[in-house]
Amino acid sequence: MKRRDFIYLVGASAGSVYAAMTALDLLKQPATARSKFEIFGNSKGKKIVILGAGIAGMAAAYELGKVGYDCTILEARERAGGRCWTVRQGTVETEISGERQVANFNAGLYFNPGPARIPQHHITLDYCQELGVPIEVFTNVNEAAYYYNEGVGPLSNRPVRIREAKTDMRGYMTELLAKAIDQDALDLPLTTEDIEKMLEFLRREGNLSPDLFYKGSSRRGYRILPGAGLQPGEPYKPFDLKALIQSGFGNYFFFEYSINQQMLMFQPVGGMDRIAKAFENRVGNLITYQAEVKEIRKTPRGVRVMYTDKTGKRQQMTGDFCICTIPLSVLKNIPADFSPDMKAAINSVVYLSTGKIGLQFKRRFWEEDDGIMGGISRTNQNITQIFYPSYGYLSSQGILVGYYNFGEAAVEMGNLSAAERQARALTEGGKIHPQYPQEFETGFSVAWHKIKYNLGGWATYTGDLRQQFYPRLNQPDGPIYLAGEHLSYYTGWMAGALESTRTTVAALHQRVQNG
Ligand code: ALA
Repeated sequence: MKRRDFIYLVGASAGSVYAAMTALDLLKQPATARSKFEIFGNSKGKKIVILGAGIAGMAAAYELGKVGYDCTILEARERAGGRCWTVRQGTVETEISGERQVANFNAGLYFNPGPARIPQHHITLDYCQELGVPIEVFTNVNEAAYYYNEGVGPLSNRPVRIREAKTDMRGYMTELLAKAIDQDALDLPLTTEDIEKMLEFLRREGNLSPDLFYKGSSRRGYRILPGAGLQPGEPYKPFDLKALIQSGFGNYFFFEYSINQQMLMFQPVGGMDRIAKAFENRVGNLITYQAEVKEIRKTPRGVRVMYTDKTGKRQQMTGDFCICTIPLSVLKNIPADFSPDMKAAINSVVYLSTGKIGLQFKRRFWEEDDGIMGGISRTNQNITQIFYPSYGYLSSQGILVGYYNFGEAAVEMGNLSAAERQARALTEGGKIHPQYPQEFETGFSVAWHKIKYNLGGWATYTGDLRQQFYPRLNQPDGPIYLAGEHLSYYTGWMAGALESTRTTVAALHQRVQNG
């Protein structure tokens, strides 16, 4: 494809030409501009069978529909959205073990068991803008939240404010570096003036004394907060360096440095499924619900997909092309005419086990007692982390995410019954928040690796797998194209599903134009 054609095909609005040119490196600008994807030309009456009404499948129908493709979506569930899902009063889910839960949350309260946060630079926000989904800040980092680790020396088994751990660690680190630099102990290519400037930076960065010692800092908080009149406040004393190192708290810091976890982050107002609903408003008429795909076949003219309808009766759907967004963890068990190399690639991809629980409490003690207004506490217990809600601040009740764990921890938790998971979340979380037993009302948990049409959280690739199999997955297999978060470098993000959809739609459309 010529560069000019690519730019032409992917859009005319100012934003998208900018994005396309940036993608082609014609503009040396970071690709952070909001974009709108558009294609031009003719659908030539082609019929596209899309498998899955998650974010990728619905976005594909939405984008292809802009130039008149005849799209139809087969969705196994009664609802659209896939992992972009919000659990609220009345939500029902049955895991493959047969474990059935009904959410008894109060009206107006909810939690997002799948995607919960959107970085500023993701095209997910471009779609929020295009589809009119109001957003609000998701608090991903809160210095007032806690670290709580067990078995790690003197700082074990007690909630430590994140700001305490960060301030002390930064203080000691800068002290070490400042002293080393000051004594010329490091062989740095710096002039005396550079070193003076570096020392000035370290002093400020770590809040060091003029003689380059870290002696604590009000940045880590106060035992008694400053107030009016004669109350200057009483800062806490710093932790001992050795205890702090043993605590392992420092290993939590890097999480928020990742570009995809940096503040600010966002969420739709009212639940993540508002994004799914917005797509569904546009393409819901194209979706056949409760259509479980049984076979995917190539034919001389395109594709034939066999599925069972909501009565369990076998049906078929034919089309010129298929865009399959079914997670590979599920797709690998569906009989299909994939070529051997595609089949091997599909089989190679590993999905991460992950789970969350929503816990409703009678009152927002984390706000009222602990002064934690959103954000995340972290622990080395199985629950791994607690998300405080970024909506409904200071109202009477609230749902927090009582665990969000991965890998072995998620498998272990997922193997428990829903009641046992809840009990474990309450026991472990209750060590951080002793208010748990008194205030708890009701919970709802999701183990993604045990959810029938997902069988995993998201695709994970090792470097080798990316090299060996990933390129194949990105190529069509005859008339069949794959799309979804698993076909991106944003695995585990809605942006991955959306970027992948744009790429797939552009490729398919180009083929139709050429054909
Ligand atoms: N995108 C997922 C998260 O932020 C993996 O937790």
